[in-house]
Amino acid sequence: MTRPAPKSFHVKSFGCQMNAYDGARMAELLEAQGLTAADSPEAAELIVLNTCHIREKAAEKVYSDIGRIVKRAEGGKPMIAVAGCVAQAEGAEIPHRAPAVDIVVGPQAYHNLPQLVADAAAGKRALDTDMPAASKFDVLPKRRRQGPSAFLTVQEGCDKFCTYCVVPYTRGAEISRPWRAIVDEAKALVDAGAREITLLGQNVNAWSGEDEKGRAQGLDGLIRELDTLPGLDRIRYTTSHPNDMSDGLIAAHGDVAKLMPFLHLPVQAGSDRILKAMNRSHDVASYLRLIERVRAVRPDIAVSGDFIVGFPGETEADFEETLAVVRQVEHAFAFSFKYSPRPGTPAATMAEQIDPDVMDDRLQRLQALLNEQQHGFNLATVGKRCEVLIERDGKRPGQRIGKSPWLQSVIVEDGPAIGELVTVYIVAAGPNSINAVIAERQAA
Ligand code: 5AD
Ligand code: SF4
Repeated sequence: MTRPAPKSFHVKSFGCQMNAYDGARMAELLEAQGLTAADSPEAAELIVLNTCHIREKAAEKVYSDIGRIVKRAEGGKPMIAVAGCVAQAEGAEIPHRAPAVDIVVGPQAYHNLPQLVADAAAGKRALDTDMPAASKFDVLPKRRRQGPSAFLTVQEGCDKFCTYCVVPYTRGAEISRPWRAIVDEAKALVDAGAREITLLGQNVNAWSGEDEKGRAQGLDGLIRELDTLPGLDRIRYTTSHPNDMSDGLIAAHGDVAKLMPFLHLPVQAGSDRILKAMNRSHDVASYLRLIERVRAVRPDIAVSGDFIVGFPGETEADFEETLAVVRQVEHAFAFSFKYSPRPGTPAATMAEQIDPDVMDDRLQRLQALLNEQQHGFNLATVGKRCEVLIERDGKRPGQRIGKSPWLQSVIVEDGPAIGELVTVYIVAAGPNSINAVIAERQAA
């Protein structure tokens, strides 16, 4: 059945920051095709659900969303595209399970979205989950319109094969984008208004390439190059693997002024036995040594991480080792999850899957400790001065919200403009944000 080509769109992204980046690039691509961003999802003629497959709950969300879209559609259902990691993992099963879906497009194929939309409008099957050798980045339109803080994908995919994780299957093998392409995109982002760039990769610190002179470079070389970019004030990167934390990258934390004092370095668990079963290829001691070395060059660094509780075979003693590592490291921030068996991963079929109630209990205990540490970190910044990059309006008139160097959400009074980098004085701290006033006004 043919249908009119959509004139407006809405992209909804779930999951990680790379999905947010992909969502922004899909929006730019659709705009370049003459579609306009709809004012609300309800008004869109094309809805792109940019999905995440990392845990079961995340993956199931897409189906409830599709149900909701179909239910609220009165004058004809919008065209529905499922993009992202669920698209990659489930492919043709998606329209089987949810016939309302018109398009399925994987994370390495979304540059073909305009063709897929045309195919769907012509009543043809529109599915593309290829992982082509040629890069989507070569054909996507140039970056435009940008907030003060931007993402830039520099590396994609994963070769590490942690036994719990779908990423090697959904995002493919580790690939680093070329130096020139990254530097050009960074310049375009700055020209479009970005003052902060977060370099993204599933294993971002595994980035490798060659600079303009043909010299081999790692992520630290790239960071040093971006440090010279006029108009760029802040550089961040996420997410890192302990095994790829090079000496050069650690050193960069000590001497690259624009590199912000925040390190997301997931350890996942605090028991060597569990780390081995996870195929993490590092142990607790080597992780702790890394943290120590980074702190030696950058004592105020905010350490962040990811944790999984209830991995198959995890005993109470193993879990207590995780708590002990958390206590030793002191986190400014962390994500923690219950283990979720993912189809096709080795851990899903391991013996000794953990009882859900035990997982709940462990997650609660871990989160209580992490929340306490996060609050403690925030409280310790009270009375300090720091720069805040203002990103958006706050709840009350005159309030703005931005980020501190340590990635805390900062509520700033006195109405600085969005995009301003202001020096503030931190006056109070809650568990999830801190409050500040503009420093000169505080002194006056
Ligand atoms: N179950 C629970 N958490 C997971 N993660 C990855 N795979 C799983 C899974 N199967 C977590 C890890 C990773 C973060 C992005 O998600 O902690 O670092
Ligand atoms: Fe989710 Fe991982 Fe895909 Fe990001 S890469 S969207 S976290 S499954």
